[in-house]
Amino acid sequence: MNIRQNTSLKQYNTFGIASAAKYFAVFNSVNDLQECLKFTEPQNVNKKPHNLILGGGSNILFTKNYDGLVLKNELKGIELINEDEEFVYVKVAAGENWHQFVLHCINNNWAGVENLSLIPGNVGASPMQNIGAYGVEIKDVFHSLEAFHKNDNATVVFNLDDCTFGYRESIFKRKYKDQFVIVSVTYKLRKKAVFNTSYGAIEQELEKMGVEQLSIKAVSDAVINIRSAKLPNPTEIGNAGSFFKNPEVPNEQFESLKIKYPNIVGYSLPAGTVKLAAGWLIEQCGWKGYREADAGCHAKQALVLVNYGNATGNEIFVLSEKIIASVQQKFGLMLEREVNII
Ligand code: FAD
Ligand code: EPU
Repeated sequence: MNIRQNTSLKQYNTFGIASAAKYFAVFNSVNDLQECLKFTEPQNVNKKPHNLILGGGSNILFTKNYDGLVLKNELKGIELINEDEEFVYVKVAAGENWHQFVLHCINNNWAGVENLSLIPGNVGASPMQNIGAYGVEIKDVFHSLEAFHKNDNATVVFNLDDCTFGYRESIFKRKYKDQFVIVSVTYKLRKKAVFNTSYGAIEQELEKMGVEQLSIKAVSDAVINIRSAKLPNPTEIGNAGSFFKNPEVPNEQFESLKIKYPNIVGYSLPAGTVKLAAGWLIEQCGWKGYREADAGCHAKQALVLVNYGNATGNEIFVLSEKIIASVQQKFGLMLEREVNII
């Protein structure tokens, strides 16, 4: 166990925010993690600092220095643990990079995660907010996970029904917030692909690519092309993807908004609600392409807030407050942040 002090977090978060952690350690095994969790402050051996588990740092905004212990997850390993006629069961250590895992699946002809190509971050965070894109969420391929309870010192298995997955939601963001460290996730992937190209943009992109024979590689490539065209690459411009969630409203509220705003973008859900495109709402309030010092609202995707270089986390946060207030004022809708604010 090597605990560093006053470590810069700039390279550990895709927003590129230059905050620092009072203590910082990397763990490569569950034993390592256990040792780190026992750490007490040198000047006060009765005090355990609070801690934060960090994956790829792609869904996090540091608004100040972190006055505790940041634990960077480097658990590695991908293992085929079981198979039957239809499925393979693949157990993946939480520190594996998500997109590298997707590519591994495509190379092995395991289907189900191709629509989730190019999402930054690590496998361990994928159940945290039930990552989703282009018509698929990880709950659709999730089998189980193992999580280490920080206080009980025990590993617990969670099956699909235990996780209460929802749109960008899970039990780990709510009831069990900050209690568990996810150490591995087992996915249930299909041997024979069932393609999901329902998201209009995928069909269009496949056509543009001239794809005649559908394959998981082709779907993955189409998703990669679409994402690369509109989402800023965090290695070029700091960001954490969608900063806000798309709000869900009852049908009746959508209908009355539509009278006033005939072009409002919304998708009907089976529950009798409509999911509104927050990017559209934000754009209508005039924020798209807005920049204040180094904090901004992306010019190609208004749902993405960006750091042009030296923005502080607090500047990004203040911009998000202004956006929430103006959407509330114009549309009477309260945007909820997707990004974890620290
Ligand atoms: P981090 O940012 O490191 O952590 C996120 C949260 O999870 C923190 O609260 C952290 O403490 C906690 N956490 C992380 N790992 C663990 C663990 N092992 N155990 C317990 N808690 C843990 N998301 C989508 O859903 N769909 C998208 O299409 C999408 N597109 C994106 C595009 C871009 C350009 C960017 C930058 C982000 C995008 N995101 C998207 C958001 C992000 O990629 C995902 O939320 C991703 O799963 C975060 O993974 P991470 O390892 O970086 O998590
Ligand atoms: N739109 C605008 N202006 C904008 C942006 C979007 O009008 O500036 C409208 C357009 O009409 C567009 C619609 O919003 O057709 C939807 O936009 P897009 O397809 O880009 O998707 P999104 O709703 O903005 C969501 C997820 C993304 C995910 C994509 C694809 C959320 C909060 N975001 O974005 O996830 O990749 O769909 O499935 O649900 C993330 O969570 O970080 C993320 C990037």
